[in-house]
This record gives sequence, structure tokens and C-alpha cells, in this order.
Amino acid sequence: MNYRHSYHAGNFADVFKHALLALMLDYLKRKEGGFRYIDTHAGPGLIDLAGDEASRTGEWRDGIARLAQADLDARQQDLLAPYFAGLGGKPVDEKSFIYGGSPCLAQNLLRPQDRLTLCELHPEDARRLERNIGRDNRVRLLQENGYRALKGLLPPPERRGLVLIDPPFESRDEFEAMEQALVTAWKKWPTGIYALWYPVKEIRPVAQFIERLAARNIPRILRLEIAVDMIRTDGPLAATGLVIVNPPYLLAEAARDLLPFLARVLARGPGGSFLVSEVTGERPA
Ligand SMILES: C[S@@+](CC[C@H](N)C(=O)[O-])C[C@H]1O[C@@H](n2cnc3c(N)ncnc32)[C@H](O)[C@@H]1O
Repeated sequence: MNYRHSYHAGNFADVFKHALLALMLDYLKRKEGGFRYIDTHAGPGLIDLAGDEASRTGEWRDGIARLAQADLDARQQDLLAPYFAGLGGKPVDEKSFIYGGSPCLAQNLLRPQDRLTLCELHPEDARRLERNIGRDNRVRLLQENGYRALKGLLPPPERRGLVLIDPPFESRDEFEAMEQALVTAWKKWPTGIYALWYPVKEIRPVAQFIERLAARNIPRILRLEIAVDMIRTDGPLAATGLVIVNPPYLLAEAARDLLPFLARVLARGPGGSFLVSEVTGERPA
């Protein structure tokens, strides 16, 4: 386990993932009843963008810093409001900004009746996460393998909620592991929302992952992606995606408005691009 999210916090992939996560949590809050947020690979939570690790790569400069400086129209403001609320406000000075990763973003957005279960396996990041979450009766922290823990957490007592599966993609079989975790989880809790994050380092493994998911006959799957540059196996990460099972009904429409904007603002080259598509497989009539 070498991956540490603090080096990448606030980069274009985080902006994409966290803006959509915040939007989905916001949709879940439209019903009064409490829901459960499960983060299988939570990371440390809060990351100082001026700290050693984030400064060493400076990836946030092409991510949250660009978004913070962009002009937003009314629709973009609406769609990004939950993200900025989760971050504790739109960054004014990104150089002295503490960036909230997925668990802290969710902690800020959830209500007293909602619950969070957060898994983080790396001992140092688990310690940081515990410190960053502080005392909060809504939160349960597990220093466990998130894939394994997930089975025992479903279905949650609230019967409503979202599972974020956001692994580090250090191992070659991460797509297979993620797919397996989803299929097992979906059988136990078919009505939950599942958001699976992935990097697009090469087109082929992503295409194969999507094909395999389509063949699983899970009824409602949305695929969202943005690219901020040409995809090159020897270059820095340039594209990222989320597969969302049981997407909230407003999400596809929101993504069609938000993703072209994010792709344009975050583009490192001449043109960014985006994708919003349904993943459908053959189903028996
Ligand atoms: C991509 S980062 C998570 C980022 C975080 N979800 C966010 O959006 O801010 C992946 C994290 O998973 C942790 N990790 C790696 N393998 C794990 C496993 N099997 N179970 C739980 N956590 C794991 C890593 O230590 C790392 O902190």
C-alpha cells in the first residue's frame, strides 16, 4: 500500500468525483428519513494543500484552484453548491486551503439523522482520518479492508443510501475486485446507490470493465467520464470516470450540464471532453 491520497487531493479527478458525490448526497437529503453513507476507501479526510505532500505534486492547481477561479452561471452555481458547501465554502485562497476528501465532505453535508461508515486500511491514513473526523456520533470508523467489510454492512438499517468505492488502483486486478465487490453488494442490497470511481489510464481495461458490468444485468447503471487531455499510458492521468448504479433520477440531466463545464475548465490541452451514457446489457425479454 504505497498510495497516499494527500499527494493528489483536489486534482481534476477529485473535483469530478467530489462534485458528483456531493450532488448525489444532496439528492438523498430531499427525503426527510435518514440514510447511510459508506466509504470503502475513505483516505485521510482533510488535506492541507500547502502541506508537503500536496505541494510536492501541486495537482490541485489544475483542479480545485481552476474551479475556484472560474465564472459560474446560475445553473453551474446550483450544481456545484453542495460541493462547495461540503468543502466549507468556495476556496478564496487555494494556497492556504484545507481540502476535504470524500469522508469529510460527506460529514459536512449529512444531517443529524444520517449515518456514515468509513473504511480506511492504511494505518497512518486511518489515524489521520480519526483525528480529522473528531467526535461525531453519526460516524463509525473501521480500519479494515473496505471490500471485505462492505458485505457485512449491507443492507444498512436505514435502507437508503450511497456506497462510494474509491480504491487506489495500485493492483492490476482492481477493476475485477471492484466489479466483484459491486456484484456481491448489489445482491445483498439491490436498491442502494453505488458509485465506483476509476482512472482512465488506458481505454481498453475501462471498456472491458464496462462490458462486464453490462453483462451482469444490473438494471440501472450510469457511466460518467471527463478527459482533460489526451490519454497517454506514459503521461499523467488525463481522464477519469464514475459508474453509478441506481443513480438519483436527476443525476444524468445534471451531469449533462455539469460535465461539459468541468471538462472545459479543467482541460490541460486544447479540448476537454465528457461522457454521459447508460450501461445496458442484454436482458431476457
Ligand atoms: C483513492 S484514495 C481514497 C480517496 C477518498 N475516497 C477521497 O475521495 O477523498 C484510496 C484509499 O484507500 C486506502 N486503501 C487501500 N486499500 C484499501 C482497502 N482494501 N480497504 C480500505 N482502504 C484501502 C488507501 O490507503 C487510500 O487512502
